[in-house]
Amino acid sequence: MTKIKNLIRKEEKRQKETLMLIPSENYAPKEVRQALCSMLNNKYSEGYPGKRYYQGNKYIDQIESIAIETAKKLFCVPYANVQSYSGSPANSAVYMALLNPGDKILGLALSSGGHLTHGHPKITFSGKFFQSFQYEVGADGFIDYEALEKLAKKVKPKIIIAGTTSYPRKLEWTLFSQVADKVGAILLADISHIAGLVAAGVHPSPVRDADVVTTTTHKTLRGPRGALIMVTKKGLRRDPDMAKKIDRAVFPGLQGGPHNAQTAAIAIALKAAQSESFKKYVKQIIINSKTLAKELKSKGFDLVSGGTDNHIILIDLRQKGVLGKEFSIKLEKAGIIVNYNSIPGDPNPPNNPSGIRLGTPAVTTRGMGVKEMMLIADFINRVYLGDSVDKINKEVKSLCRKFPTL
Ligand SMILES: Cc1ncc(COP(=O)(O)O)c(C=O)c1O
Repeated sequence: MTKIKNLIRKEEKRQKETLMLIPSENYAPKEVRQALCSMLNNKYSEGYPGKRYYQGNKYIDQIESIAIETAKKLFCVPYANVQSYSGSPANSAVYMALLNPGDKILGLALSSGGHLTHGHPKITFSGKFFQSFQYEVGADGFIDYEALEKLAKKVKPKIIIAGTTSYPRKLEWTLFSQVADKVGAILLADISHIAGLVAAGVHPSPVRDADVVTTTTHKTLRGPRGALIMVTKKGLRRDPDMAKKIDRAVFPGLQGGPHNAQTAAIAIALKAAQSESFKKYVKQIIINSKTLAKELKSKGFDLVSGGTDNHIILIDLRQKGVLGKEFSIKLEKAGIIVNYNSIPGDPNPPNNPSGIRLGTPAVTTRGMGVKEMMLIADFINRVYLGDSVDKINKEVKSLCRKFPTL
């Protein structure tokens, strides 16, 4: 056990001393982490508030009800389920609730910025159990809504998934819903990456256009690992039983007992996301992201779609003559943590792609601003140019010391 304790301490030190630029990562506040390691972990509570299969749930019921109500208020939806263990089980629960095996699903291709759970063929649950079709971004790096419409009309999917994991641009919910309505498809908006932006009003909300909205709670929302599944008014108009079907798909369909410590931590994070300071935080994420993008561009880095509207920057490294994996390994040596990522139309495989993905949520949580983004762009460029990674790492550590983690 001492070994694990030591490794936890080492990991904490690593997070404090490095620049966390992976856009899906963040520093959850202490209150969230405290809830996660509370005695709520000890309790079984299969079922839902007021309808449990175990005794002793009077406080758990209240905690889950608060999490549900806070989610409903934050995202302006009539229904929320807070029990999914994470983003992938949440999307699977939506499919289980609303589709039959073999139904047609249409999602954004992984190489265009979609997620594995959006129907990535062959190797995933969504790609194996359904007939999966994929739309893509155009040559400009933006989603090609005309091509999406053409494909949707040809395929006639039962569900269209609008959601992204490495797409630096705004999602046009109305265009998605127009396509879905034309072909009679359910529209699932997976806002896992942009949930914090949506909550803060910095990215348009899909709530008027989509039937169902899923999100993870640990990215820009800055909560515990977990997920929400929400049904909109539109979804309930389409199928008044939609919410009931989702509840049943989560439990008993896919999961057993909910992770109550996680539920409490979700409630805490969602409450925090209602505050003015959270709105300010999210606005700064975008300012930082745009600044970092501009600085990188000025240093000759080629950005997919030419820039960013959100917290994500996707660099196409082909002109630089280096692959994403090799570059991200060098960056790690300097204390800059990014992930290698496919770019649209990538000639290289996903395990050795041509791009890297960066994001500003975590460094913004530390309080970094425009000046620090300029420094970070400079660090990245110096790593590329072959400056000593040990020397850069010392400067990175010194910068990190000035901006403590939560
Ligand atoms: C858009 C999107 N959906 C779903 C997920 C899956 O979330 P998890 O990793 O929590 O299963 C992710 C994770 O990166 C994501 O970006």
